[in-house]
Amino acid sequence: MADAGPGPDPTAGTPPLRDDARRLCAADDLVEGGVGVRFAVGIGGREIGAFVVRYEGAVHGYLNQCAHVPMELDWQEGHFFESSGLYLMCATHGAVYQPDSGLCVGGPCRGASLAKLRVEERDGAVYWIPESPYDDPPSPPSPPPVP
Ligand code: FES
Repeated sequence: MADAGPGPDPTAGTPPLRDDARRLCAADDLVEGGVGVRFAVGIGGREIGAFVVRYEGAVHGYLNQCAHVPMELDWQEGHFFESSGLYLMCATHGAVYQPDSGLCVGGPCRGASLAKLRVEERDGAVYWIPESPYDDPPSPPSPPPVP
């Protein structure tokens, strides 16, 4: 009997990772409903906090800004899920969000949404793909010229 070979390539048809993709963490760093990884994006020359979490096996990234008042959501650094691990929760007034869509389903901003970012998981790592209006954070200021 002939060898059937290694089978179909699971990455066949997947476009290559964009050159400007930024590696955020190892895929294993994100546990289902667990601690998220914080990072920063730039908008209009300002640096804004963001985060990525894992929910139902997929990675999801958002700006770390509540839809009620633009305050960071995590009650301890990286802790975005409430105790059941089913919803993201804002530490300030308790708004709860669906982790996969960012839609607020309870609390003072019900019906509003978190700002979703494009993230991808591949080859054992998680990447943020910059898209307008969120680009890379501004570079640190250059040191003054040496006289
Ligand atoms: S600031 Fe998040 S619920 Fe009010």
